Amino acid sequence: MHASDPANGQNPGEQWGSQTGFILATIGSAAGVGNVWRFSYVAGENGGGVFLLLYIVSIALIGLPIIIAETAIGRALRHDHAPATQRLRQLRHWQAFRLVSVVAALAILSFYAVIAGWALRYFVGAVDGSLLRIAAAGHGEFFGTFIAAPVEPVIWHGLMMLATTLIVLRGVQKGIETANRILMPVLFAAVALLAIYGMTQTGSGDGLAFLFMPDWARLGEPEVYLAAMGQAFFSLGVGMAVFVTYGSYMPTRQRIPTAALAIIAGDTLVAMLAGIAIFTTVFAYGINPAAGPELAFITLPKIFVALPGGRLFAVLFFGLLVAGALTSMISLLEVSVAWFVQRTHWHRRRAAPILGILIFVLGVPSALGYGTLASIQWNGRGILDSIDFAASNVLLPFGGLMLLALVGWRWGRQPALIAANLDRSAWAPAWFALVRWITPLLVLIILLREFVDG
Ligand code: TRP
Repeated sequence: MHASDPANGQNPGEQWGSQTGFILATIGSAAGVGNVWRFSYVAGENGGGVFLLLYIVSIALIGLPIIIAETAIGRALRHDHAPATQRLRQLRHWQAFRLVSVVAALAILSFYAVIAGWALRYFVGAVDGSLLRIAAAGHGEFFGTFIAAPVEPVIWHGLMMLATTLIVLRGVQKGIETANRILMPVLFAAVALLAIYGMTQTGSGDGLAFLFMPDWARLGEPEVYLAAMGQAFFSLGVGMAVFVTYGSYMPTRQRIPTAALAIIAGDTLVAMLAGIAIFTTVFAYGINPAAGPELAFITLPKIFVALPGGRLFAVLFFGLLVAGALTSMISLLEVSVAWFVQRTHWHRRRAAPILGILIFVLGVPSALGYGTLASIQWNGRGILDSIDFAASNVLLPFGGLMLLALVGWRWGRQPALIAANLDRSAWAPAWFALVRWITPLLVLIILLREFVDG
């Protein structure tokens, strides 16, 4: 029926150029500053080992089934003559899901761009060497002064939004796929090297114990469950239609469950390696693991200062952090641009800059939240932290719930299984039981325990 696909506002004929295109682009969306910066500080605040365990359980029981469901919908919507898909299009839930997705995308990108801006600032500091001239003990102060400055953080955040907008504006297919093909292997190599280096530091055993040995007492705390689930949603980038959009370019012969497994494995590996690099250093330098959002920015430069050839390594690492952030930001902007193009029939060359500027403006309070606007707090969280908390722990799970309701209860078992390439699989009953009952119940219980019991 449509010249452009309502799911993503793009030419339905477009496809990833290769079998690995979808996997690379979705790992590019998944692996970003969330794996390094967010994973480490949330794990640090929530007790390490128990958090890691609940995080991995959340990835398997919540993230994986939703990735499969989102991708299946995205790809199925391309073939709009199929009766099952027509039914899907008519469902009102579907539009509601898109709306929650767009709100979540705007909110997440607004603060994500600020963190990406910090990464860009550190990249430049690594290139000109200034970052390496700061004494190891002074990195906390350097970071604190930088993020509290009245103008600087806004400029860096604006630069990241500008770059993202320019890429999305041109259309991202070839760009994303090629960039990911080059950058992802190098990103993996850099994070692995950092983890190995971290482990060679004296006192690193305490960091490894913190990350891998659960302190079972914390299993009784509802916040830890919520934090683990929120991190799983955020790190994979699910609950927000990224997989719907990227899945719509997926060739029919590619198998969704295999791709989904590769994505969760890749994303989790990056997070674990970054966690090893950061926590070994945190404990080697006696930093408080619960220091909050600045954890990675204070600890990583300390490694680089001490490392032989550290400057090159710092350039590589922050360069890749910026690139990882960009591939994630592209996916976030794409969700709202695609929705806008579909709604307004504007060209993406018009929608992208307008949304880019809007998101930049929305992000300014987050950028100033550690300095000029530091007095604005809710429950001890600053502006950036609060938006992150609300978007990751509430909006994404909510988006995930809507998607699960749609696939588990409205789409029909058989069409959904066929679309997900699970109709002839022994895993079919397990996946469908997760989508229909287990995953939504888990998400609901975690949300209710936190917000109803207080
Ligand atoms: N997953 C990315 C990260 O870990 C961030 C991201 C990209 C994201 N797309 C998303 C988060 C969609 C939530 C939803 O850095």
